[in-house]
Amino acid sequence: MARYVVGRAADLPPGSRRIVTAGSRSIGVFNIRGRFYALRNRCPHQGAPLCLGKIKGTTLPGRPYEYLYGREDEIIQCPWHGWEFEIATGRTHFNPHKMRAKTFEVTVGRAGEQDVILETFPVTTEDGLVILHA
Ligand code: FES
Repeated sequence: MARYVVGRAADLPPGSRRIVTAGSRSIGVFNIRGRFYALRNRCPHQGAPLCLGKIKGTTLPGRPYEYLYGREDEIIQCPWHGWEFEIATGRTHFNPHKMRAKTFEVTVGRAGEQDVILETFPVTTEDGLVILHA
């Protein structure tokens, strides 16, 4: 795994992002509340530059007619069709293809089964530099 210097940590404050080229890949590096995360800059739906998307929160599970919003700054929304992904894990909870309901068939599976997973990469800081391992 190669090491890529993303920049000085002081130049990537919480809430910021930087998109870098690592070999042939485009990767977004995010500072979320002082912790660094890296995501492949390619949406698994139709290939949009995901890391250019809006950083936001998302709706949370709640009771019927109850609207709960949370996880502010932990979610990135794809700029093309709005799929939401956890920046820390690359996991999405909403997949329109998976949401196609069948009228007569119901199955039960483990939570998180068949989630779409983005490629994520480790990020460390050394001597004030942000280092991407990709
Ligand atoms: S390309 Fe990202 S949601 Fe469609």
